[in-house]
Amino acid sequence: MSATVRTRGSISRRLTLQLAVIAAFLALLSWGMVRSFSQQAAEQTQDNILAASATAIAEELRSEAGRIRLEIPYAAFSMLGAINEERVFYRVLSDGETLTGYDDLPVEQGARINGGVAFDTLSYRGDDVRVAMVQRTVFASERAVRVIVAVAQTRNAVDAISARISRAAALVSLAFFVLAAVLSFWAARVSLQPLTAITQIVSRRGASDLKPFETTAPQEIAPLLTALNRFMERLSSSLDRSEDFIAEAAHRVRTPLTTVRTQAEIALHSVTRSENKEILRRVIRAVDESSRSAGQLLDHAMVSFRTDKLTHSDVDLAELLGDVINTLRPTADMKDIRIRTELPSLWIKGDAILLQNALHNVLDNAIKYSPAESTITITLENRGAQAGIRVCDQGRGVDGADIATLTQRFRRGGNVGNVVGSGLGLTIANEVVHAHGGRLEMTGAQDGPGICVTLLLSLR
Ligand SMILES: Nc1ncnc2c1ncn2[C@@H]1O[C@H](COP(=O)(O)OP(=O)(O)OP(=O)(O)O)[C@@H](O)[C@H]1O
Ligand SMILES: [Mg+2]
Repeated sequence: MSATVRTRGSISRRLTLQLAVIAAFLALLSWGMVRSFSQQAAEQTQDNILAASATAIAEELRSEAGRIRLEIPYAAFSMLGAINEERVFYRVLSDGETLTGYDDLPVEQGARINGGVAFDTLSYRGDDVRVAMVQRTVFASERAVRVIVAVAQTRNAVDAISARISRAAALVSLAFFVLAAVLSFWAARVSLQPLTAITQIVSRRGASDLKPFETTAPQEIAPLLTALNRFMERLSSSLDRSEDFIAEAAHRVRTPLTTVRTQAEIALHSVTRSENKEILRRVIRAVDESSRSAGQLLDHAMVSFRTDKLTHSDVDLAELLGDVINTLRPTADMKDIRIRTELPSLWIKGDAILLQNALHNVLDNAIKYSPAESTITITLENRGAQAGIRVCDQGRGVDGADIATLTQRFRRGGNVGNVVGSGLGLTIANEVVHAHGGRLEMTGAQDGPGICVTLLLSLR
């Protein structure tokens, strides 16, 4: 069972979000800056015109017969009209007294005006107005008269201009943000592309493929692949060690068992008392069972390792079956069992050693569980996408036991009687056919009590 990895968050989403937040902040900042610059520029323009207008009026100041006289030039107001339909006010003060203009226009007469132009924003007649004040000293009857020219204009146009620019800037900033968000999403995906590619390479690997990954990876991912390669190297050598260990252990168990069996056989022939003979027969049987178990365990371990590293070479099933039959023929001959075959040439891609092992176990069962002088029929047929190998015997049958339980490890049927076995043969055959993309079927023989075991193997 593979452990499920709990996912928490997504790098791609986090990256997109972070980049989008940065983009939003920059968009807001740029909007604020454009807005403030546009406001300043509009105000500056109005200030310049107001100052020019006030200066133009101040230029016309003169004294006549000890009095200050002023003829307001038309141009002074026409330049103000250039801005918009704004209301314009003016006031000229001579020594604090209104010479001409709007009497109630507030004019700051303090020191701020000294030496140039002063500006002020104030509320006048229900509107916000901007005032430019210019101070001049005019000599009348040899007396220096301080004259202040104040020109004011409503600020509606300035506000409208900066509002328009601010709106346009907001739209541009919004568009910039949307574009940046889309680009962030794209950038996040592109940045994670190598990770996706490596994930695909890893998941395409067969369960048994422990070869190191030889692929180029970005600097950040390379350590992960290196760690993975080291891990697989350790796993592979640990598997190899286990395989060697099992082979060694089985060998060490079987060798003394063979000796014990030989000694017990010799003893069996030399003792005369029937109870002693019985004891020795039981010893021989126990040794046979142990030896069979050790052999089958070794085969099962070998099958597990090989199915993990499955090779796909061309295998001639007819030839393979011929070899298996030849190996087991002496055992069949001892029981006078006839083996009938129908073996047309049929090739599959697979692991010959594993397939041989599986077939050996199935045929071994057929011989083991069949009575003397019976017939075993082995047929090989092409079933479209699958190759079918069918082994039918005239033996004792399995008496309703289902294939799922008999293929479990160490599971033996209730029909075994005194037949030696470990309950691993069908487990091995089943694992081999599954590794080859096939399945194992067990059905009752058409005539008589025997069974047919069919191995279905994928032809592709
Ligand atoms: N041809 C057959 N006829 C009757 N019963 C069978 C046949 N093949 C398998 N069985 C039943 O299925 C069981 C499982 O078979 P399996 O080959 O796995 O174990 P085994 O033959 O008992 O032991 P071993 O591991 O030594 O082969 C057997 O114990 C037997 O009951
Ligand atoms: Mg068996």
